[in-house]
Amino acid sequence: MNYKQQADRQMEALRNKDKVAILAIETSCDETAAAVVVNGREVASNVLYSQIAIHAEYGGVVPELASRNHLEKLPYIVQEALGNAGCDLQNIDAVAVTQGPGLVGALLTGVSYAKALAYAANKPLIAVNHIEGHISANFITHKELVPPFICLVVSGGHTNIVKVADYGSYEPLGATRDDAAGEAFDKVARVLGLPYPGGPNLQKLAESGNKEAYVFPRPFRGETHLDFSFSGLKTAVINKIHTMEQKGEAYSRADIAASFQRAVAETLIKNTFEAARRENMKVVALAGGVSANEYLRGEAAGVAGYRLFLPDVAYCTDNAAMIASAAYYRLRRGCPAAGLDLNADPSLKLI
Ligand code: KG4
Ligand code: ZN
Repeated sequence: MNYKQQADRQMEALRNKDKVAILAIETSCDETAAAVVVNGREVASNVLYSQIAIHAEYGGVVPELASRNHLEKLPYIVQEALGNAGCDLQNIDAVAVTQGPGLVGALLTGVSYAKALAYAANKPLIAVNHIEGHISANFITHKELVPPFICLVVSGGHTNIVKVADYGSYEPLGATRDDAAGEAFDKVARVLGLPYPGGPNLQKLAESGNKEAYVFPRPFRGETHLDFSFSGLKTAVINKIHTMEQKGEAYSRADIAASFQRAVAETLIKNTFEAARRENMKVVALAGGVSANEYLRGEAAGVAGYRLFLPDVAYCTDNAAMIASAAYYRLRRGCPAAGLDLNADPSLKLI
């Protein structure tokens, strides 16, 4: 029996096991992450090495540097995740890894490492979609949350409203037609002179600003579809800053940040809750890096008539615990194990 045949048998046996511990690896962008999660919800360890300091001087992620640093840090991060969980590879039931979407070189380091680990330890390998991981972060924070629900996935690369009909069953309801919301945060932050990563720094600056100082466009509102467009908003903000600078007008960077943040949050919330209304769903969740934004979280919590689920801030941005959670539900619903021919897929689709 070859590795893959054996892995599929192991997966089948694990479907009926009471306690399944999964070691997950996530290297899709600039965080080297490993975690051990039991039954998709109990985090035994969650280790993360952030490359922020490495990329900060370039003002954004340098893909080649990201890959090299993942390679360097992975063995230590994985060992730490196993150690913190009080186990070794033999106590693990399966190895999971982010297959995509993300930076191809960065993904490849994780995929190659996970394949070698799974093969050497004779464990099944589970390939996970990064976006499914973000959605699953909610299962870690909220033990009571079960599908169906509406989820807004809002990160540096994605802005999607999906109906989570069941574990692993997704229906697209809306998506960005150009920039992701996180991308808009990062670009506006850069024009405001804020260091990378832009989103959290812009949030901090916005705390002292007046969110009503400027009225920026709320793109696509009132349309029949639930798509987003953040490119026009981003351009409007940048043009406003440049015009004021050219005229020598004094302006408050904090006011710009607060007004921009408000426009993004209002747009995200409007479409997400409209999707819930149309689908007749009362349960709404947020996920992804931008869902760490305190203003967005507060505004979403203020919408009456819905039960709102937000991942803990630590599980909004990239981490491996969410990948382990998604892997567990893949296993439970009978997905096959990945083979040793698994390849990174930088544009892997959720649906
Ligand atoms: O999910 P994530 O860690 O990586 C991707 O899969 O893209 O998301 C990163 C994005 C970045 O654009 C970052 O600026 C944004 O999430 N972000 C935030 C906040 N924290 C992270 N945006 C606004 N406010 C925050 N507090
Ligand atoms: Zn992400």
